[in-house]
Amino acid sequence: MTSVLSCSQLPPEILYEQIALALETKGYVVLPSALPVNVADALLDHLAVLDEHEFHHATIGRGEGQVQNNFVRRDKITWIYPNDPLADQWHAWANALQQYLNRRLFLGLFSFESHFSYYQKGDFYQKHLDAFQGQSNRILSLATYLNRDWLPEQGGELVIYDSKGDELVKVTPSFGTLVVFLSEEFPHEVLKAKRSRFSVAGWFRVNTSTAERADPPV
Ligand code: OGA
Ligand code: MN
Repeated sequence: MTSVLSCSQLPPEILYEQIALALETKGYVVLPSALPVNVADALLDHLAVLDEHEFHHATIGRGEGQVQNNFVRRDKITWIYPNDPLADQWHAWANALQQYLNRRLFLGLFSFESHFSYYQKGDFYQKHLDAFQGQSNRILSLATYLNRDWLPEQGGELVIYDSKGDELVKVTPSFGTLVVFLSEEFPHEVLKAKRSRFSVAGWFRVNTSTAERADPPV
């Protein structure tokens, strides 16, 4: 177990309320050093036992529409499984956030899916939306970072835009920074990283299961 200095020791409700208020008023939030220390430690411990070959090139789209596109994204990912004991603290924290936001904002969030992302030197992810209006059940996007001592000249920022394409914020992928935004409303990109960059990306979804089509969380 590592000791993390740059993370939050606040009661979780205070952080959850900060997120709720920001989502209500502007639809996105960037909170440096916000990830609770136990959750950050647990994610690092999980990452430490993953082998590089468990990361694979991400595809774009879902189901049969999936393609790999090196021009759009170069990162490699590995999904975090709901029943993996190594992810217990992460899922407990995300589920509590989900419940808080459902009570506070009536979002009807039903499930959570997330993966580790690994950007090697030179990797990027071009401007994209995590969900297209009316077409997806991804409601809320979340990102957090596991990189110590990230320097400005190392690039790899997450840039969030408004729907007109104007830049809203540039996020340095520093340890424990937490980003949450409405999936359908904010195009975003990851600028070229000049060193290895680890993040966790997650999505809260609403349920769109029907009798004909099961819709598992991962
Ligand atoms: C994604 C994504 C952002 C980041 O995986 O969809 O936008 O900063 N990630 O890693
Ligand atoms: Mn994204």
